[in-house]
Amino acid sequence: MIIGKLIETLAFLVVYPHNHPHITSNDCLAQSYIGTYGSQDVFTPSESCVNSFASTTDAPSIHLHPGAQLVWIEQASLEQHLTDYPFSLLSLQRYLATLPDTDVTTYGLHADDQQLLSGPIDTRPLHHTSTSALLALSPAYTRQLTLILPPTWRIYVLPSKPFSFLPVPEPAIARVRDILSTLRFNPEVARIVSNISLPQIRNDIRFLTGEDGRSGILSRHSFSSGALIAAEWLRVRFEETGANCELRPFLPGFAPNVICRYPSIEKTTETVLISAHYDSRGSFGSVRAPGGNDDGSGTTGLLAIARTIKRLGVRFRSNVELVVFAGEEQGLLGSKHYAQEMRDSDKNLTLMIQADMTAYHEPGEPQQLGLPEIIGTQEVTQLVANISTIYVPELVVGFTPSFHFQGFPATHLFERAGRIADPMYHNSGDISDRIGYDFEQLVNIARVQFATLLHAARFDLS
Ligand SMILES: *[C@@H]1O[C@H](CO)[C@@H](O)[C@H](O)[C@H]1NC(C)=O
Ligand SMILES: *[C@@H]1O[C@H](CO)[C@@H](O)[C@H](O)[C@H]1NC(C)=O
Ligand SMILES: *[C@@H]1O[C@H](CO)[C@@H](O)[C@H](O)[C@H]1NC(C)=O
Ligand SMILES: [Zn+2]
Repeated sequence: MIIGKLIETLAFLVVYPHNHPHITSNDCLAQSYIGTYGSQDVFTPSESCVNSFASTTDAPSIHLHPGAQLVWIEQASLEQHLTDYPFSLLSLQRYLATLPDTDVTTYGLHADDQQLLSGPIDTRPLHHTSTSALLALSPAYTRQLTLILPPTWRIYVLPSKPFSFLPVPEPAIARVRDILSTLRFNPEVARIVSNISLPQIRNDIRFLTGEDGRSGILSRHSFSSGALIAAEWLRVRFEETGANCELRPFLPGFAPNVICRYPSIEKTTETVLISAHYDSRGSFGSVRAPGGNDDGSGTTGLLAIARTIKRLGVRFRSNVELVVFAGEEQGLLGSKHYAQEMRDSDKNLTLMIQADMTAYHEPGEPQQLGLPEIIGTQEVTQLVANISTIYVPELVVGFTPSFHFQGFPATHLFERAGRIADPMYHNSGDISDRIGYDFEQLVNIARVQFATLLHAARFDLS
């Protein structure tokens, strides 16, 4: 839908559900993409572009203050009983109203009052759904807002310049289809993935959360000293398994991405990437952010895969990358930067699988594997689903909202077929020693990630 005409830039602000047909059929629209938020794609096309597929006559005018930035705020997809802080426009307005209105330079204006306001913040969103809102705010307000919004609300600053909406190229999808169509149970794969050690994961996670008292880590928040300890510790652990690793900074003040590679035994550019994120988020007002599930689970699962590669002498006929990102809790910043680097270097990515929160399910529920419903590359998701059925039949596979990795064949592994149910989500109580935290499910989801890597990267044991 057309939100309005941004008077200062003459661009239109347009929002569509993810992968709307207009996007693929209008190249000019695809060239004016500014990101996917929730399950909505946002664009700022020119008037002539919009006119080629829609009428602009009724579009309201939007005046943005020159310093304003567009900010997307949304509630994470939570089970009903968890929403202590349900998203509503009214509550968003209450948070906005608590901000001091000294630095007056805000925001967006609406057609009905064509004048620049000053004074308290304009709390009217440019666009909203029942769980999200798009606002125009001054950067100072955005910063303050990130400190006071509930931890279960996410906030994303939209880029000021558009980039291209990149569909996954057809040859890349064809390769994934090819892997899927030749997929058969392989007893070697079954033996390798069953070698993952649960006690080792328990030790690793207790180090990263600080539960064992050895690491001194209180938090792995992207700006914390604990995140730097974790990054260095992870680098050393991954290198012990034969990988070459680097700590790659991506933004000042943020802990680095940890990027580890196993070279291919054959000469090829193709690369299979599996990932998690090691940064964490705690409760408002507490320094403690153990991140045992989010995403200590995905991180230690990845490390367990690396340790098993070493233990069993697994090698690959493809390049393999194991990456743990930082900055994910600030709007997926680490993985976005890495995706851009891969784009700039024209990386030949066969597929990518991110594991984020794999340990929790509600007590009484079976072990599950949640795969993305709308976003992500369907072919990769199907491949993972079939591999899970073949190698780890005890996991109940189902669907879960969200995940996006622009232009590369990618999918996402999650702990539940449904919304987030972990009561310790973005909470200082996210330790591993608690009810509902299921190490066996964590291990089983790591097995699925590992088996997909083995099939996609053509392993060798000789
Ligand atoms: C993948 O699984 C689906 C449903 O379980 C099945 O219909 C399909 O044949 C499988 N595909 C392959 C290539 O094994
Ligand atoms: C993994 O394989 C190693 C080497 O064969 C073996 O010593 C170890 O017991 C296995 N561990 C598990 C958990 O299967
Ligand atoms: C990517 O790898 C595939 C599989 O090896 C190969 O066929 C293709 O030519 C490669 N593409 C590029 C751009 O290197
Ligand atoms: Zn996470």
